[in-house]
Amino acid sequence: MTPESRLAELKKLLGEHAYNYYVLDSPTISDGEYDALFAELLEIEARQPELASDDSPSQRVGGLPLEKFSQVPHRLPMLSLENAFEQQDILEFEKRLKRYLNTEASPDYVCEPKLDGLAVELIYEDGTLSQALTRGDGRTGEDVTAQVRTIAAIPLRLRTPNEGLLEVRGEVFMDREAFTALNSQRQESGEQLFANPRNAAAGSLRQLNPRITAQRRLSFSAYGVATANGLDAESQFALLDYLRHNGLPTSTMSRLCGSLDEVLTAFNDFLAIRHQLPYEIDGMVIKVNSFALQERLGFKARSPRWAIACKFPAIQATTTLEDIAYQVGRTGAVTPVALLKPVNVGGVMVSRATLHNQEEIARKDLRLGDTVLVQRAGDVIPEVIKPIPEKRSGRETSVTPPSHCPVCSQPLEKPPGEVLTRCTNTLCEAQKLRGLIHFTSKAGLDIEGLGKKSVEQLYANKIIEDIPDIFTLGEEKLAALPGWGDISAAKVLNAIIASKRPTLARLLAALGIRFIGETTATLLEQRFHTLGALSEAGVDDLTRIDGIGHRTATSLAGYFADDRTRDILQRLEQAGVEPDARTPPAGGSLAGMSFLFTGSLETLSRSEAKKLVKENGGEVATSVSKKLSHVVAGAKAGSKLDRARQLGKIILAEKEFLELLDQR
Ligand code: IVH
Repeated sequence: MTPESRLAELKKLLGEHAYNYYVLDSPTISDGEYDALFAELLEIEARQPELASDDSPSQRVGGLPLEKFSQVPHRLPMLSLENAFEQQDILEFEKRLKRYLNTEASPDYVCEPKLDGLAVELIYEDGTLSQALTRGDGRTGEDVTAQVRTIAAIPLRLRTPNEGLLEVRGEVFMDREAFTALNSQRQESGEQLFANPRNAAAGSLRQLNPRITAQRRLSFSAYGVATANGLDAESQFALLDYLRHNGLPTSTMSRLCGSLDEVLTAFNDFLAIRHQLPYEIDGMVIKVNSFALQERLGFKARSPRWAIACKFPAIQATTTLEDIAYQVGRTGAVTPVALLKPVNVGGVMVSRATLHNQEEIARKDLRLGDTVLVQRAGDVIPEVIKPIPEKRSGRETSVTPPSHCPVCSQPLEKPPGEVLTRCTNTLCEAQKLRGLIHFTSKAGLDIEGLGKKSVEQLYANKIIEDIPDIFTLGEEKLAALPGWGDISAAKVLNAIIASKRPTLARLLAALGIRFIGETTATLLEQRFHTLGALSEAGVDDLTRIDGIGHRTATSLAGYFADDRTRDILQRLEQAGVEPDARTPPAGGSLAGMSFLFTGSLETLSRSEAKKLVKENGGEVATSVSKKLSHVVAGAKAGSKLDRARQLGKIILAEKEFLELLDQR
């Protein structure tokens, strides 16, 4: 037997054993036998490195560290789910479905556990894993291909692939055992502990160095698909089967339910066994089973109409309310925060909790020193539910609300009809700083290296005082600050330059205009496309948009009418910040060209080649279409090459492709 054919055989064997282990949960060989097969594969590849392909299990050890994650748009947006917190919400979900479908009959449902990890998209091309993306903002994700390749439960090659694309969606998570092991290891080495498995999973996947990810024992469970060429399934339940057949782990808890009663039973069953499961789940997802019905139901702005996430009831604990601090938010709202004696609430240490507003403190009759009931529900901020008066000693003291801003000392106001007290001094340092922090944060332009701490430092040193200052930052000033050096300064400046072409929606959400969050910003982008057009819109134009009310419209119009806004927008424009309603940044040597790779390349891996195209402003195509300009053909290129020839596309060898990059 040639080394080549033995290698192919080993890959197949190891693939099947991984399938038995991760998907069927019934291994047929011992770990030792598996390791021996794996060692044999490594040995052949070490002797003949040219035989090591992208889909070899040897690739799971993790490649070289990345400089940064590249941003890749999702072909189809990754939406989230609407939440149901009580039974009533589930009943209403079905009512809405029936109304929408104009029927009395209740559809079949699939109930799946809602795993508590992070959503990823796995892109298989002709059966081989070619790219993996995080959800990101739903429209654009981060390329975590190198990291995802290290997750043993994710097949690098599908078992029964179709030609073309299969975009699999699912959850990367860490089971309890791996989480505990990781944290105790970190404790020993004096590293900071992860608060919960979800944070651990996210922190492990978003590691620039994939070798670290490889050590983290992440798991994966698939729950859906986006683009799926040749998919042979007409329902969610059949899809789960199809995915399993292809070697993708799916939850074995998933159930087909014929009625809402069965759904409610499933929910209670899930709830009853949640603590016995080897991983954390934070609820149950109900999906309409039939794809035909799903299609009729369609989507709302951010979530499908055919599914809902039923959250498990929150976890509670009691502790002492030690003090109340007052925070000034980015819009001047002053909110009380409970400072608690640290307490473990379902695995998470909690020392601060939201109290919402002053009225709430009075309504709940909270006193300093009280024993209080604290609740943590899923990923939301913990909250103080109520005091426990029976535990009072008599030494508790009542809470006096502040009359002046704790930061700028200006008198506070309480606008009629609003529950929050506000600092109306728009020059209040707290508001300015919070606005800056928001601007660079994930919810804003997501400028890497300009997190909360850095912004606070730059603000305290008066290096940035308002948003446009960010874009005129100089390397020297930055590098001279304590904790900064030439390299970190250069990195941040690069990230700032890279953030100059946000989508209009992202920029709007980043500016921190009152009532303009991500959803509203997206509606505005869809309607107006440019900042210029939006800034000229009147309240009436704005309220004509479905989803925008008077309050939001007034806030927006007021924002654009303000002189300071004009100044800020003008300075942003001067600094080259130009929102762009969707098209990716132009420029790059391959701008305007679109490339398809087919056959096996000699020096580049597929993902490296694609990365090069994207980094140089080109586009990657997966089929021979009208838009396609170039085909890069490697050895054993097949039907795609023939078709590209017929259509007169430019055909390049790998060497010519690399030359093209060099020349330009
Ligand atoms: S379906 C368009 N199914 O929950 C619907 N999501 O808020 C996409 N999740 O981002 C989601 N288990 O990370 C779906 N069985 C499951 C899930 C699940 C966990 C997560 C997922 C998503 C979030 C929805």
